[in-house]
Amino acid sequence: MDIDLSGMKVLVTGASGGIGKTIARSLAVSGATVAVHYNRNAESANALVDELGHGAQSFQADLSVPEECSRLFLDVLYKFDTIDVLINNSGIIISSPLDTPADRWLEDWNRTLMVNITAVGILCRAAINHFVNNGGGRIINIASRAAFRGDTPEFLAYAASKGGMVSLSRTIARGYGKQNIKSFIVAPGFVRTEMAQPHIDQYGESFVVDDLALNNLTEPGDVAPTVVFLASGLMDHATGCTIDINAGSYVH
Ligand SMILES: NC(=O)c1ccc[n+]([C@@H]2O[C@H](COP(=O)([O-])OP(=O)(O)OC[C@H]3O[C@@H](n4cnc5c(N)ncnc54)[C@H](OP(=O)(O)O)[C@@H]3O)[C@@H](O)[C@H]2O)c1
Repeated sequence: MDIDLSGMKVLVTGASGGIGKTIARSLAVSGATVAVHYNRNAESANALVDELGHGAQSFQADLSVPEECSRLFLDVLYKFDTIDVLINNSGIIISSPLDTPADRWLEDWNRTLMVNITAVGILCRAAINHFVNNGGGRIINIASRAAFRGDTPEFLAYAASKGGMVSLSRTIARGYGKQNIKSFIVAPGFVRTEMAQPHIDQYGESFVVDDLALNNLTEPGDVAPTVVFLASGLMDHATGCTIDINAGSYVH
């Protein structure tokens, strides 16, 4: 099957990081023009832009700041004229056990929810408003296995935020399908990136692999093709669905 995304303009948040970068590369290989969003890692984002071609450009925004979420969408529209697909991939995970002092625990909770779900809500709102006036579009939200299986107690906020992404995506799919807007959830399990590396370092790779049905850790390249497929329109009648990519570690 030949997937040609030529002429398609796609905003990928967190494209400076592990999964987002590989998604951006796969989209560009299929011909898409990618808005490479980053927060702190300008070097990674700018190197990626040079590599991608097809008119890719980088855009900075700290998604823990609501105004920067809105500004990001407008910045990309200003440069690209239109956006066809929004991929909400930026995310953070903060270990915050229950015995963390209450004010610090709340700070961690608020920061996690701001980046992982409030920013996603703001960007989805901007995208829906744009898509309604432009004949439609697609939203792909990178959630997590944690939304369904739950996580360990020090990651209460992370799991809650990812659960929120799922119900948000499903509500968009149900509410805006008639306006030609589709919304999907991709729910990875453990993926080898900077986010996951401390866990691998702490417990060892074989311990992590023991939790999987497969023999090897999921890599960003195991996630990206699904995102390209969803972006292409070939899966539009699956709007609202979740694609689990967790190496059989949680089948529900
Ligand atoms: N790795 C896993 O095991 C796993 C499993 C399930 C789901 N996921 C989800 O997959 C997505 C990508 O994760 P990853 O593993 O690729 O993580 P990663 O390598 O740590 O990359 C995270 C990305 O998010 C961006 N980001 C972090 N804080 C931000 C902020 N305040 N504002 C804007 N952007 C911010 C980072 O930008 P800068 O580096 O430029 O600051 C980076 O591009 C996340 O939503 C994560 O929850 C990951």
